[in-house]
Amino acid sequence: MTDLKLLTPLKTDTFEFKNRVFMAPMTRARTPDHVANDRTALYYSQRASAGLIISEGTQISEQAIGWTNTPGIHTSEQIEGWRKVTDAVHAAGGLIFAQLWHTGRASHPDFHDGALPVAPSAVPFESQAFTPEGPKPTVTPRAMTLEEIQSTIADYEAAARAAQAAGFDGVEVHGANGYLPAQFLEDGPNKRTDAYGGPIENRARFLLEATDAAIRVFGPSRVSVRLSPRIPYNDMGDSDLEGTYMFAVEALEARKVGILHFMEAAELPDGLKPLAPEARKRFSGVFIVNVGYDRETGEQAIASGLADAVTFGTLFISNPDLPERFRQNAALASSDPDSYYVGDEQGYTDYPPLT
Ligand SMILES: Cc1cc2nc3c(=O)[nH]c(=O)nc-3n(C[C@H](O)[C@H](O)[C@H](O)COP(=O)(O)O)c2cc1C
Repeated sequence: MTDLKLLTPLKTDTFEFKNRVFMAPMTRARTPDHVANDRTALYYSQRASAGLIISEGTQISEQAIGWTNTPGIHTSEQIEGWRKVTDAVHAAGGLIFAQLWHTGRASHPDFHDGALPVAPSAVPFESQAFTPEGPKPTVTPRAMTLEEIQSTIADYEAAARAAQAAGFDGVEVHGANGYLPAQFLEDGPNKRTDAYGGPIENRARFLLEATDAAIRVFGPSRVSVRLSPRIPYNDMGDSDLEGTYMFAVEALEARKVGILHFMEAAELPDGLKPLAPEARKRFSGVFIVNVGYDRETGEQAIASGLADAVTFGTLFISNPDLPERFRQNAALASSDPDSYYVGDEQGYTDYPPLT
């Protein structure tokens, strides 16, 4: 027996999460035709004891793609593929959200017949794109027109509708890790002078319109938004991280968004102010923390009131029954980074549960 708070249920008006050990979204690059398949269904159903699974980043349109072999949610074939996954997870007693992904400038011309990826602004930056031919340096993107912004918001709504048709319990707007909504939010990548650039009220507009599109389909309580102020991945930067992100958090609170998925390392380097407590103060829905948590620090996050739930990433790759291992305080298997983004069953569906 255990009295771990991580394993206590979490009730909202909409959901009863059976525990607070949630599975973080993780790209596994195992769908060469961009369609989730039987193996995807097996992988997620093996992990259905999580209180909530958030799927790997799932592109909302052709233009959104920026990582090879990743699934989409914008064709009827893709909806059918994901239906196998949601059915398998539900049959195993789990809940699953689709993570809606647009890579923006982090994409590569190789995904677009040589055309430039799109972004708020044509700002040079340095990162790597995972193309079908392997990692390549990213390129300076093309600035989106106002019409393209509107059609991309429509793509978010269509993708949310597709996720609903595929049987997902909700969606997460991927506003983290330097992808398109974050590119609009932060003033490093966003140099626009129209309604989508300049002051934070304008820079937040894209993220909030994408969120509103998801809300129109699912209602606010089934929408999660993921943010990562302290993660500079994809060459991100902002002159006032705290001000920028607290504006976004307050705007999400005003919309009664159900879940805020806040990425910030459990241990920050000395001198760096943690923003998770600030966000937590401003948000009354389900507040999730992630990055580098384990059984002890995750428990502490719940016990101290910092968070309502914790997402675990790499630990869920190699420990499909992570909540049970936490309950038993059992030894944890370590994952193999070489198979994170390549391979078939190996490093994917072949990690055994406890016997
Ligand atoms: C293989 C792999 C793929 C990932 N793919 C995504 C993704 O698709 N979307 C996302 O928001 N984060 C992604 N992440 C980040 C994870 O969700 C998580 O934030 C990260 O693993 C840190 O959590 P952990 O310390 O519990 O592993 C990925 C991480 C890994 C290791």
